[in-house]
Amino acid sequence: MSEQWQPATWRNKPICQVPSYPDPAALAEAEARIATWPPLVFAGEARALKQSLGEVCEGRAFLLQGGDCAESFAEHGADNIRDFFRVFLQMSIVLTFGASRPVVKVGRIAGQFAKPRSSDFETRDGVSLPSYRGDIINGIEFDAASRIPDPERLKMAYRQSAATLNLLRAFAQGGYSNLENVHEWMLGFVAGSPQAERYQELADRISEAMSFMTAIGINSINNPQIRETSFYTSHEALLLGYEQAMTRTDSTSGDWYATSGHMIWIGDRTRQPDHAHVEFCRGVRNPLGLKCGPSLDPDELLRLIDILNPDNTPGRLTLIARFGHDKVEQYLPRLIRAVEREGRKVVWSCDPMHGNTITANGYKTRPFQRVLTEVESFFAVHKAEGSHPGGIHVEMTGKNVTECTGGARDISADDLSDRYHTHCDPRLNAEQAVELAFLVAELLKNDRAVVAAPLAANG
Ligand code: PEP
Ligand code: CO
Repeated sequence: MSEQWQPATWRNKPICQVPSYPDPAALAEAEARIATWPPLVFAGEARALKQSLGEVCEGRAFLLQGGDCAESFAEHGADNIRDFFRVFLQMSIVLTFGASRPVVKVGRIAGQFAKPRSSDFETRDGVSLPSYRGDIINGIEFDAASRIPDPERLKMAYRQSAATLNLLRAFAQGGYSNLENVHEWMLGFVAGSPQAERYQELADRISEAMSFMTAIGINSINNPQIRETSFYTSHEALLLGYEQAMTRTDSTSGDWYATSGHMIWIGDRTRQPDHAHVEFCRGVRNPLGLKCGPSLDPDELLRLIDILNPDNTPGRLTLIARFGHDKVEQYLPRLIRAVEREGRKVVWSCDPMHGNTITANGYKTRPFQRVLTEVESFFAVHKAEGSHPGGIHVEMTGKNVTECTGGARDISADDLSDRYHTHCDPRLNAEQAVELAFLVAELLKNDRAVVAAPLAANG
């Protein structure tokens, strides 16, 4: 591992989850072209995110990371992006209020296109075709031509990411996120939903606090933090040819950064310490995520931390626990103990989605109750171990889809066919996402009570 890193050194390592392109020359040409295109994000932004994640690491902020399992070309549109961003803001306001600490906002968006698959082939009615691997690689339609990996798709993914990011930047900084609009973000709620009522109540309290602040001279004109928010992007760094093409040196520091997104993560299937994905990620200075599933043992985790965060920088590495509602209590404590014993600085985040996928009526789904249970257990384990539950990582959409069962509207297995739109895994719909945020806010309030107790005793 001590060998000199370069953006291409991953190519000398074994690699999992690679598509086989019929025309490697065309792929190389597409990658070379993309390498000349402008960066999507800037090194300074990635550094700012790392710093904020450092605050999460110390328990002074909370990480909210979420978005589609897989973005698609077909669903690219302003309405989808706005609806997603609105729900994300709603969740974040619920969390900020509950936790009384800043929420670091990171979307799974503007680059989340490549998917690892459990099988290289998909079989339907006796016909086997290469699996769909995300729109940046091949098409979801079940026909032979669509499933052929197409290098032109890398360019389409880049352009879609650029357009998405452009709108997100406008939403974050152009006035939409102004806290004075907290009631307008209500618009997405279905009238009469239980979450809408809770949210309305909270929005009223925020408005009241804002009126007070305005009265004493603090407003969105003299305080940009009221009218703007920081929003970051992230995706799984799976398609390394694309990632390499987007990797650039930062002119101010001379360091390498992945400019495809602010934060990139390594999936549970591609985290072998001596393989290509870990090799690529170790050399870029962005904040990194590492998915941790049941097959990860503590020694291997420590080895990965050594490789990915050798300087023990807080905020560099987020460990995303995704065990399943019935496994988190068994598997998480030993990882936390190993990390604590060795004094490693990490952010612990909970992905309550990927360990809770089941099939019902032929649809991949996730019972919402299991999602909630995994989050609750994650918090309980951290409380018992004395470590910080730093964040959540969820698959969600701003649309009223029917992909996960349960929630306030009690979506049943029979309802799944109504609005099942995901290109990959089932997502929380807008109401379920906000319901989850309210639960996490409660858990954070309790956590805060514990942290605050000694101070109160002194005061
Ligand atoms: C994902 O986040 O969509 C994913 C594939 O997760 P994991 O690597 O944890 O299975
Ligand atoms: Co997924």
